[in-house]
Amino acid sequence: MCGIVGYVGPKRAVDVVLEGLRRLEYRGYDSAGVAVVENATVDVERRAGKLSNLEKALSEREQMTGTTGIGHTRWATHGAPTDRNAHPHVDCTGKVAVVHNGTIENFAELRHALEVGGHQLHSETDTEAVAHMVEERYDGDLAAAVRSVCKELGGSFVLVVAHADHPDLVVGARRNLPLVAGVGEGENFLASDVTAFIGHTRNARVVDQDQIVELRSDSITVTDLEGTVVDGEQYHVDWDTDAAEKGGYEFFMLKEIEEQPAAVRETLAGRLDSKGLLRLDELALSDEDIRDLEQVVVVACGSSYHSAMVGKYAIERWTRIATSVEIASEFRYRDPVVNRRTLLVAVSQSGETADTLEALRHARQQRAWSLAVTNTVGSTVARESDAALYTRGGPEVAVASTKAVMTQMTAMYLVGLYLAQVRGTRDPDEVRAHLRDLQEIPHLIEETLSRMEVVRELARDLSSEERVLFIGRHVGYPMALEGALKLKELAYVSAEGFPAGEIKHGPIALVEQGTPVVVLAPRHALTSKLVTNVQELRARGARTIVVTTDGDDAMEPYADHLIRIPDTKSLLSPLLTMVPMQVFAAEFAKARGLDVDQPRNLAKSVTVE
Ligand code: AGP
Repeated sequence: MCGIVGYVGPKRAVDVVLEGLRRLEYRGYDSAGVAVVENATVDVERRAGKLSNLEKALSEREQMTGTTGIGHTRWATHGAPTDRNAHPHVDCTGKVAVVHNGTIENFAELRHALEVGGHQLHSETDTEAVAHMVEERYDGDLAAAVRSVCKELGGSFVLVVAHADHPDLVVGARRNLPLVAGVGEGENFLASDVTAFIGHTRNARVVDQDQIVELRSDSITVTDLEGTVVDGEQYHVDWDTDAAEKGGYEFFMLKEIEEQPAAVRETLAGRLDSKGLLRLDELALSDEDIRDLEQVVVVACGSSYHSAMVGKYAIERWTRIATSVEIASEFRYRDPVVNRRTLLVAVSQSGETADTLEALRHARQQRAWSLAVTNTVGSTVARESDAALYTRGGPEVAVASTKAVMTQMTAMYLVGLYLAQVRGTRDPDEVRAHLRDLQEIPHLIEETLSRMEVVRELARDLSSEERVLFIGRHVGYPMALEGALKLKELAYVSAEGFPAGEIKHGPIALVEQGTPVVVLAPRHALTSKLVTNVQELRARGARTIVVTTDGDDAMEPYADHLIRIPDTKSLLSPLLTMVPMQVFAAEFAKARGLDVDQPRNLAKSVTVE
């Protein structure tokens, strides 16, 4: 939540910072702002609303020419999304400018102390307190002032600070939230995520917990809170600007849907040995420890939770290890039973979701072995887990998750098969057969994508509906939840997903003449039961949209609209049924004239609890 950029180098900072903010806007779009150091002042411009409002304001004023700057795109927490609450925030002298991601939990006390001390605060934000605290502690050494302030801050934060006295310096600080340094030639960058500076450099340096970065055009110095210089891990980003651009698509989401076959290929690549069996060295668990596992607990939020649910079906089927899936925000507060014979899997695209991170930390305190399934190399969830299995989906910019979910599910199948392989609950030939089926999936997704015109037409036709229900059984159930979430978040429709067998226990009361009900019905042993559920709905006037497998005619008589997906093993079917759900939601939102990439009130990376 909130995107942050800092730049020091020879270029006009405002251009570099705006380019970075454009790439980070998925993190929040309630307001945007920049501050540039020039002529011994800090020039600040900020506007409520999307980045385009700030760009317009900048185009109507005298150019900012300084080469050191910071910027921010906001997802509001403290204070409404107004100009006044937009970052950067400044101190009483107007010399210190601060941008911030996170929540400073002791901000009320800090603010009170500042006001008693004579400081004038003008916004409702927690961030403004930091600018005044830096002002109080500053004696010529900006990094020392920031270090001293950080020691007093509670909660989580990334701060990036510029000062009028320092035309070649930006200082960053990090606790619990992401901050990465971009290592350029004669220029350096700070950002919430590498996408912000990928157009300038693909070399990045990790900034760790409670570290302070001094960014100059020719150096990056990282210290701990006591000022001791620390070594940092540097890495090379293996994708480029093209991956972070729309590439001719109207929306990132549409591009990301099309990228799914390639993304799944990447998830699978290099993870098989010469015998056609799985090699998941990343798990870092010995065979003996795997055989000793008593349970698997998967924690996640939102769409990642739906991937986790699919993972549960696969892990239990193939390994017979009891597996539970938990909404991460609920997990630690109910005192869950977790111990050293538990494998805790944290599924998170961003690897920064606060709820998932806290669930992971709680499980680690109970001595569980932890595995991150994440798309983001070096993310906090990955770094704090015992092991990380990267999903390799490439950058996902649209707020609504598509290829990340697809690759998470693929990774969860791999985890299930690997555990089964090591524990011997499936013989090697069966594991090989499942892996062959998985390797067919990218091609089958391509085939599914080629059939989507019928889905787009249907979405346009239904786009004035205010309620859509989704039902499914077995692995169709998580996909019903995912279909409903996609439609809800993109089109602001009251969309609900249910296990098909559950509708008669209440939800069927929602059905009236013409209510659209999407039925996830890939070929499955439970299809006959699903037929009964669909008949119950049709008897009450439901208009049924059935997603089913080629060659399976069981549902056809009960479908007002039929969407066919290619045949695959029923356990793997979510990798195909998800595609029409994504296309349906995106087209539905487009038909309503909505911003598919940036739905209202949302941010991609949810770093508050
Ligand atoms: C999905 O479309 C959403 N944007 C959201 O539910 C997301 O999956 C959730 O916030 C979890 O994010 P994470 O995978 O980065 O942890």
